[in-house]
Amino acid sequence: MAAMNPPTTDPAVIYRTRDAIAAADALAAAIVHLDLFTGLARAPADVAEVCRRHGLHPRPTDVLCTLLSAQGLIARDASGRFEPTATAREFLVDAAPFDARSYYAAMADKPGVADFLQVLRTGRPANWPGAEGEADWHASMRTEAFAEAFTAAMDCRGRVLAPALANAVDGGAARRLLDVGGGSGVYSIAMAERFPTLAATVLEAAPVDAIARRTIHAAGLEGRVAVVAADMFATPWPAGHDLHLFSNVLHDWDEADCRRLLAMSVAALPAGGRLLIHDMLLDDDKAGPLWAAEYSVLLSTVTQGRLYSTAEIAGWLAELGFEIVARAATALGRSVLTGSHRGHARKPQDSAAHGEDVPSAPA
Ligand SMILES: C[S@@+](CC[C@H](N)C(=O)[O-])C[C@H]1O[C@@H](n2cnc3c(N)ncnc32)[C@H](O)[C@@H]1O
Repeated sequence: MAAMNPPTTDPAVIYRTRDAIAAADALAAAIVHLDLFTGLARAPADVAEVCRRHGLHPRPTDVLCTLLSAQGLIARDASGRFEPTATAREFLVDAAPFDARSYYAAMADKPGVADFLQVLRTGRPANWPGAEGEADWHASMRTEAFAEAFTAAMDCRGRVLAPALANAVDGGAARRLLDVGGGSGVYSIAMAERFPTLAATVLEAAPVDAIARRTIHAAGLEGRVAVVAADMFATPWPAGHDLHLFSNVLHDWDEADCRRLLAMSVAALPAGGRLLIHDMLLDDDKAGPLWAAEYSVLLSTVTQGRLYSTAEIAGWLAELGFEIVARAATALGRSVLTGSHRGHARKPQDSAAHGEDVPSAPA
């Protein structure tokens, strides 16, 4: 395989449209099944109160509130509770002058709308399209056909993201990368190509480990990129890796599991080791960006996760004695955070040399 190069045109519309595919259903569910805006106009509410009022689960409700905030339909009042914006008051509440709720009424029984309502009520993922009889993609990934199709989806997106990631991070000082949940290995391949002295290990569950071996072989990199088949939650992680990569992994898991994964990473890293979190990130106020807010709906519908803000991730890392020392954009609205043990941060001039900005401490 030829070395990985970034595309010559911008595929954002292709990826963004798919990322946003469940967001319209979430808005429809909020309007036709919950009449959410009328309720918020009568009494503003935070996520916990919205859950209590409508019998909803906090994870997807948080995702819905982020979406509606990013769409400019709700905003926090002085006490931090959500209330409808002027647009929502004019179009989406009982007795509004331009009541548009009937425009959505015919969508009430659309399968995607029903799916999101079910996710809201149970907190559990709805069916992944094409995974016959499986409740969510985590279970589906144990079947060969689904794992092939899903990993192909991650791989094609990785052909855009991985070279951008490799260009955005400082991997020069690292000796060995552990690519946790590394999929086809496309990110390890891009990192190995970008940093000629770096070796890598892809940690993957079967049957995806076999796909990774095949992809790495095609890239001619089996001498530098190894594959370990393991359950990342159940098996001790391979030692001797001073750089850990979580690319599009945390967004598959709820907060408790994200904390577990980061704790396992910190426990396995040697002194001075760093971790990279590559994902789409929410703004710290969780009111945008719109692309991320839309994608988070899809993730909350098909996985046990959602997107997280930099502040949420920084908070988990702080409990482990780590801090975020750099943040850089990659491609398609994604970013990479670099985490380091407190006190091991690189000097600011090193960050500047790589075009990274160091965020202030999280709230
Ligand atoms: C959304 S994909 C991301 C793949 C790749 N890192 C990327 O950025 O495209 C998540 C990956 O985590 C892997 N995974 C899920 N559960 C796992 C587990 N318990 N142990 C190891 N890998 C796991 C899946 O097989 C899948 O390849």
